[in-house]
Amino acid sequence: MSVEAYDAIDVIRAKRDGGEVPEPALRWMVDAYTRGYVSDAQMASFAMAVFQRGMQRDEIRVLTDAMIASGERMSFASLGKKTVDKHSTGGVGDKITLPLAPLVAVFGVAVPQLSGRGLGHTGGTLDKLESIPGWRAALSNEEMFAQMQGDVGAVICAAGSGLAPADKKLYALRDVTGTVEAIPLIASSIMSKKIAEGTDALVLDVKFGSGAFMQDIDRARELAQTMVALGTDSGVATTALLTDMNVPLGLAIGNANEVRESVEILAGGGPADVRELTLALAREMLALAGHPDADVEGALDDGRAMDVWKAMIRAQDGDPDAALPTARETHVVTAPADGVVTRMDALPFGISAWRLGAGRARAEDKVVHAAGIDLHAKPGDHVTAGQPLFTLSAEDEARFPRALEALDGAWSIGDTAPEKGPLVRERITA
Ligand code: URA
Repeated sequence: MSVEAYDAIDVIRAKRDGGEVPEPALRWMVDAYTRGYVSDAQMASFAMAVFQRGMQRDEIRVLTDAMIASGERMSFASLGKKTVDKHSTGGVGDKITLPLAPLVAVFGVAVPQLSGRGLGHTGGTLDKLESIPGWRAALSNEEMFAQMQGDVGAVICAAGSGLAPADKKLYALRDVTGTVEAIPLIASSIMSKKIAEGTDALVLDVKFGSGAFMQDIDRARELAQTMVALGTDSGVATTALLTDMNVPLGLAIGNANEVRESVEILAGGGPADVRELTLALAREMLALAGHPDADVEGALDDGRAMDVWKAMIRAQDGDPDAALPTARETHVVTAPADGVVTRMDALPFGISAWRLGAGRARAEDKVVHAAGIDLHAKPGDHVTAGQPLFTLSAEDEARFPRALEALDGAWSIGDTAPEKGPLVRERITA
């Protein structure tokens, strides 16, 4: 039996007491955890120490690097095209990847969107796309390359198990030990996957507000700065937008209904906030890929982005024209009085959709694609008594009471329209 170079207990104690973990010890901790030598209990204790004590920039860099080193590194160098990816830190009604990837690919840039599934109240891109009959999330590296190289140019698929396996293990552990919302852990988790993926450029949509992991804009800014520095130092051209996640994005929260809304955006319509964010992120991605003047509005309005969307869905065995699933049961909530919608709090709406079956409580659960919430009004809209405010959809009526309970106090109607800040609050660069 080989002799281990360090003891997990010493690494845990060093961080617990507020010290810096030396580089070789931190690298060993990640490697030994991936191998199964360091136990879940020890890693959870270390993650909690990081949550409480934080990490220096250099420790975050080493942690990220160790997670990259736990698996394979991909390279798109042979594609002969620039590659640019986008990552959102997660929100409620955040379907932006769906219209964004084909829109950016219109301009000859390859978009490798290695995406995830939802856990907790935040939705997952793969769950949404799996509402489309036949669509396949699992692609081989060869299929992914072929799709990006050919006419399609964009691919949204599941990250293979070889990419940053340390993060897969650690993320699942953090999810059940109250250690998700730590800047060093989120930054290293996201950036290890993106750097290992081998993209040339990356735009981060860092969300703040009630439906985001970072409620507070100052913490979101710190997270964005940390990730931009990690990307830039690894040779990935990285920028971030800080965007408001206090109110659900768009009018659809769920899976199939979010695909419907994305298709509206690709047809040149759809809710103004979803279109605005899609365009802002597309401009940012295309600027990094050397196309700062691309006419992204034109590509949405004249059907070019829709053509790429259909080709992208077909390339992964989906039928872009097939009917999407609809729910057996619906429950409509109406306005109790005349007035203006003053508040719709993203987090409880996300939790409610999750309880309806749109999300999963355990990684192995299946989502119900037709479950979710459709909003009929947003903050600032005038409503009259009895007018539908939102519709809950589920496969089983028994889901409604707990979903409605989550929405208690989550929205209000008053006399004065709320003040709205801009959706895109700040741009963070290296
Ligand atoms: N997304 C990730 O991939 N990791 C995190 O830690 C948080 C969001």
